[in-house]
Amino acid sequence: MSVVRFAGKIAVVTGAASGIGRATALALAAEGAAVVLADLNVDRLAEVESEIRTAGGRAIAQRCDVASDADLEALAAATTAAFGDADILMNNAGVMLRGPLERMPTSDWQWIMDINFLGAVRGVRAFLPAMLARGSGHIVNTASIGGLVGGRAHSAGYSASKFALVGYSETLAVHVRSRGVGVSVLCPGGVRTNLPEQIRLSDAAEGPEGYGLDEAFGPDAVEPDAAAALVLDAMVDGRFLVLTDPRHQKMLERRVSDMDAWVATRAAAGAARA
Ligand SMILES: NC(=O)c1ccc[n+]([C@@H]2O[C@H](COP(=O)([O-])OP(=O)(O)OC[C@H]3O[C@@H](n4cnc5c(N)ncnc54)[C@H](O)[C@@H]3O)[C@@H](O)[C@H]2O)c1
Repeated sequence: MSVVRFAGKIAVVTGAASGIGRATALALAAEGAAVVLADLNVDRLAEVESEIRTAGGRAIAQRCDVASDADLEALAAATTAAFGDADILMNNAGVMLRGPLERMPTSDWQWIMDINFLGAVRGVRAFLPAMLARGSGHIVNTASIGGLVGGRAHSAGYSASKFALVGYSETLAVHVRSRGVGVSVLCPGGVRTNLPEQIRLSDAAEGPEGYGLDEAFGPDAVEPDAAAALVLDAMVDGRFLVLTDPRHQKMLERRVSDMDAWVATRAAAGAARA
């Protein structure tokens, strides 16, 4: 018999048209939640909506740019009108930026912070007050393993935006847990999605060469369904940190125990690659 852990819950997922967001929305709907699907890509969003409805689930789709305050406010209003106040918010929409760390213009840094970091801040601002008023709810922010460890110079903007999101999420979790609202931060390693479509190559880059546009995921990438299953389990168990690759746990322990050694190790690996 299939498990139904989210019957009667109302969930909002940004970046729901594709990849991890799509898989999590489908999984939540399959376990009984009514789902509000938000994304910029309305064609793919409509496909996910129809997939959920065909399977007997409840969903609505709304175009939403997480870089817009007004769009997030409209999303909260549409959620309440369609189903009621949200029990679950997954701030998942994200993009990538590649370019030379030392030359990227401020506008590139602002672009990625506006979507990857402030997109989640806007989501929390739009949905958290109703959760706190009710004394229940769960927020999932999709960061990255790149939000816990730095690495490749061409991805510094992405990493910085995800570090900001992890720090924000941890503070949020401490702030709201005693008031009945759970927070999880998903820090995936490679997940096979359409993320390469979301890569912006900085104007400061002299060409795609050297910026790893073809190697967005490592050989150990997992499928989006696997990441979604971990997210649902974390919500049920009330866990904060969600990693998709168990090897990252050890890596993080090492990093925390000696940050200087970490930088030396990564620098040596970088020199060997160059
Ligand atoms: N795939 C990976 O290996 C991986 C690893 C670590 C973290 N992540 C994170 O997972 C999240 C989901 O990405 P994914 O891998 O499923 O990629 P994806 O491209 O398949 O899905 C991302 C979705 O976000 C949407 N989006 C982009 N900008 C938006 C905006 N301004 N407003 C609303 N929607 C917007 C896109 O249209 C797309 O549908 C991202 O935050 C990403 O940084 C992914």
